[in-house]
Amino acid sequence: MKATLLASPRFSLWVCGSVAGLLGVVASAGVGAQSTATAGDVTFTKDIAPILQKHCQTCHRPDSLAPMSLLTYEDARPYARAIKARTALRTQRGAMPPWYIEKDIGIQQYKDDPSLSEEELAKIAKWTDSGAPRGNPAEMPPPLDFGSGDQWKLGKPDLVLSSPSITVKAMSADQWISLGTVPTGLTEDRYVRSVEVREVNDIPRNADSKTVGGRFVFHHMNYSSSTDPTGRIDENSTHWPLPEVGRNGDIFPEQAGKLLQAGSLLVLEQAHVHANGRDTNAHLEFAFRFHPKGYQPGVKWANVSGLGRGADMDVKPLTANQELHAYAVLQQHTKVVTFEPHLHAAGTRMCLEAIFGTDIQTLTCAAYDHNWVRTYAYADDAMPLLPKGTILHIIGVLDTSPANKNLADGRNWSGGGRRSVSNMFHDTLGTYIELTEEQFEKEMAERVRKLKLTKSDYLIGCPLCMGVLQPELASTASR
Ligand code: HEC
Repeated sequence: MKATLLASPRFSLWVCGSVAGLLGVVASAGVGAQSTATAGDVTFTKDIAPILQKHCQTCHRPDSLAPMSLLTYEDARPYARAIKARTALRTQRGAMPPWYIEKDIGIQQYKDDPSLSEEELAKIAKWTDSGAPRGNPAEMPPPLDFGSGDQWKLGKPDLVLSSPSITVKAMSADQWISLGTVPTGLTEDRYVRSVEVREVNDIPRNADSKTVGGRFVFHHMNYSSSTDPTGRIDENSTHWPLPEVGRNGDIFPEQAGKLLQAGSLLVLEQAHVHANGRDTNAHLEFAFRFHPKGYQPGVKWANVSGLGRGADMDVKPLTANQELHAYAVLQQHTKVVTFEPHLHAAGTRMCLEAIFGTDIQTLTCAAYDHNWVRTYAYADDAMPLLPKGTILHIIGVLDTSPANKNLADGRNWSGGGRRSVSNMFHDTLGTYIELTEEQFEKEMAERVRKLKLTKSDYLIGCPLCMGVLQPELASTASR
């Protein structure tokens, strides 16, 4: 899918014109807009079941995260209207599946993207509007095999570790607590290709809860692995991505496996625990998938600091569309691996922009729903390749008006802070790889070759890629 990465040069300044952006993407890709008309009858067995299998059942089945199952016609039929309504939200908060990347701007290739195509959305709408018919039972696809290890969305893990259990009273204050250490039992170093964390608790599956948060008590967990027997964090420790309520797992880039050290302990430094109105007993499980033995990473993770705002936030009461901005200058050539917008209940949207000289590119815009904190991993061939000196810019949008149903009460002024009633605004959970001059040039050349770029293409996320084809441009741009 190289096509949607490309926009013709005519539309290169499409940052604020999403219509132009859309035209740019579609026109240069040479594909027509997808038809929203769906010919013929749409039935559950022929059309809808395959969509639910592909996009929904990983959560909507017994013993998974969602409140109801969508495995069979009997399961799904009562929800037909709700299914149409929630999927039609597309990338807005409340949308199902929970994935908020805006499709008319920026990079469109992400790993593990569960979103629906326009054609699938049209089928769902038509099915609901025509009375949600079952169709021919013989056309029902065979059920998916969720097998063992089925709770893991990123595939069967090589190692699963459990935290100690905690009990959280129905009504109790937020706590930030350490859960001690858990030995990994590893006798040799292993590099990790993906990690996924889930909460296991005793909340009944059919318990009434309108939000994801109501089904959990762990709001996030900061954890690392350390080879120090006392669990001290030092320069040899590995910091793991922070699991949060509703957050998806992490797939690391092929060349950047993360080290889980021989003899290490998982150090469960700090859990944010939040009561949910029921006495709840819960623990976390950490599932690691390894690279084969002997694997060595080829690149280093980079530290990009400062892409966010903290104590200086000034959030006005009862006001929609409040914009926030933060900037960070890249100190080395950088490959952007993930975008992870982080706001609190007032947050509704975040965009990430790269500014290199006069070239301003919107890399990604996503709606934000504090019930569903998501991380977005760019596909390998779409990870932005940004030269040293690029300014990363995040733009956040907050809404404290009554239209924002995530806010308990928008009437008070609020500032920055850790509690969900205070605010955060950052992309410091996004991840980056640092590239040497040689690696940077090689990666750009590979990108140009793989995507078969020509001089008249324009690639979002790689301001110097065209310079590879036109050396005279590269020398002007880097001056
Ligand atoms: C990542 C897990 C996940 C995926 C994937 C997912 N859902 Fe959900 N869904 C949930 C959870 C959890 C809830 C309850 C919380 C909420 O509403 O956000 C929910 C709620 C819903 C509701 C509202 C139920 C009600 O009582 O009104 C509908 C309808 C729904 N999902 C349909 C879908 C459809 C259709 C798909 C696939 C196209 C899908 N979901 C994919 C987890 C998921």
